[in-house]
Amino acid sequence: MEENAGQIPVGCMCPLGTRLHRLKMDLRKKIIDFFQEKGILVQEETVEFLMKRENGIETCKEILNNFDEYPLILSLDLVKNFFGEKDNRKEIRREIKKERFSEKGFKILRDVTGNSTCKGEIKDFVCLFRDRYERLSELVKKRQEMKYAFPIKKALRKTDEVAFIGIVKEVSNSKNGIFAEIEDYEDSIEVYIPKDVDSFVVNDEILGIKGRKSGDLFIAKSVVRPGLPVRRKRNFSEENTHVLFLSDLHVGSKSFLEKEWNNFIEWINGKKGSERQREVAKKIEYIIISGDDVEGIGIYPGQEHDLLIEDIYIQYEELARKLSEIPEKIKIILQPGNHDAVRSALPQPAFENEIKKFFSDLNVSFIGNPCYFEINEVIILAYHGQSIQDFATCLPGMNQNNPTQIMKEMLKRRHMAPIYGSVSSFAPEKKDYLVIDYVPDIFVTGHVHVTSVETYRDVLLMNASAWQMQTEYQRMMNFMPDPAKAIVVNLKNMFSSVVHFT
Ligand SMILES: [Fe+2]
Repeated sequence: MEENAGQIPVGCMCPLGTRLHRLKMDLRKKIIDFFQEKGILVQEETVEFLMKRENGIETCKEILNNFDEYPLILSLDLVKNFFGEKDNRKEIRREIKKERFSEKGFKILRDVTGNSTCKGEIKDFVCLFRDRYERLSELVKKRQEMKYAFPIKKALRKTDEVAFIGIVKEVSNSKNGIFAEIEDYEDSIEVYIPKDVDSFVVNDEILGIKGRKSGDLFIAKSVVRPGLPVRRKRNFSEENTHVLFLSDLHVGSKSFLEKEWNNFIEWINGKKGSERQREVAKKIEYIIISGDDVEGIGIYPGQEHDLLIEDIYIQYEELARKLSEIPEKIKIILQPGNHDAVRSALPQPAFENEIKKFFSDLNVSFIGNPCYFEINEVIILAYHGQSIQDFATCLPGMNQNNPTQIMKEMLKRRHMAPIYGSVSSFAPEKKDYLVIDYVPDIFVTGHVHVTSVETYRDVLLMNASAWQMQTEYQRMMNFMPDPAKAIVVNLKNMFSSVVHFT
């Protein structure tokens, strides 16, 4: 007894222990009652899990807000999926600390600029694909269907139905389906995916397969992608924050729409448009330009015939002059595209100082491509959109003139450009900056010169318009432009409207 003096014997209910025990029991009852009132049975392990989280019943309310339809049984997996998304958000917010600059309301969250590890060696591609596999297979694993996924090596030994996760090495089409070679760290497997199961598998995407062996062939019964949660908590700005989305200015091209641009400048200065339109113009605080800011040089064969300004530096000087006509109170966020003077491989860093210097007197911030950033709590993923063409080539029924349809395919795969070796080129960074591990509130692209706005699972998708009429090259490439439009979004309610300048 002497030895134990001052210690609380195991199992002893000291006053503090009794109180804690009672509080725990109260919380347990509250959690069970809360879900029972809504007709939901909650598993014991789920209750245990929820009791360890902070905020008690508030957390339970948050979880329920996540569902369109309440489940009959609240399993631990469903709850963990919810927290997976939330923890992801914490991770991206932690990256704020690494930001290069931060101003009121506008913060860069993730950008390759200043963080590039690329030495251009082939072996670095292994790191890039490994990072993609690690981050996306984690998301696939969270899907209910992949709960018992095996490594491919083990899956190959099973004769009954089995699930596994891998990266698609190669796809070949047959009359009634797809043959896909899928690999993980240890092994690879040839899978037959009948047309009615899925016909949208692309090279280098990460996915889960459920199915069974039939002779030498593994036949897929279902294909599982990381996907987006059916419903999630969107971020909104507390104040009315109006953001204008533009793209593909192509300054320096003979096809630049000078007259339409001047209409835009008059409108943004409150000198043109109906009273209501002028009111909207007054409220704009940010302009985001999603790349191809100038026409560039040497981008496609025969481009020299289409150039009004042949010197790349003078093109940027002219862009700066044009942007100087926008009211100074508006912050302009400038992203590069494939026509701009940065490396063409993705991810593209922001402009170097020799370009930035032209904008030194303006209210301009520079971002890379792609870039996650935040304006008044709303998370925006801006990407020029080079891979839209890759998807249009590889996926049946997809067309680059319908970019938001392709952007949904990116979100389902949680990757902006999975296909290696097509039109888009990649720099072998150690981290895959094209992974969409965090679901943005707004996802904006450009590149295909089309104006389109759509909402998919609470993400506002936009392809911002161009300021160039169709060139001979674009006619050849089947680009059908819808130019001289601007998309305005109020971040307080995500209402969007399109202003025309033709
Ligand atoms: Fe463009």
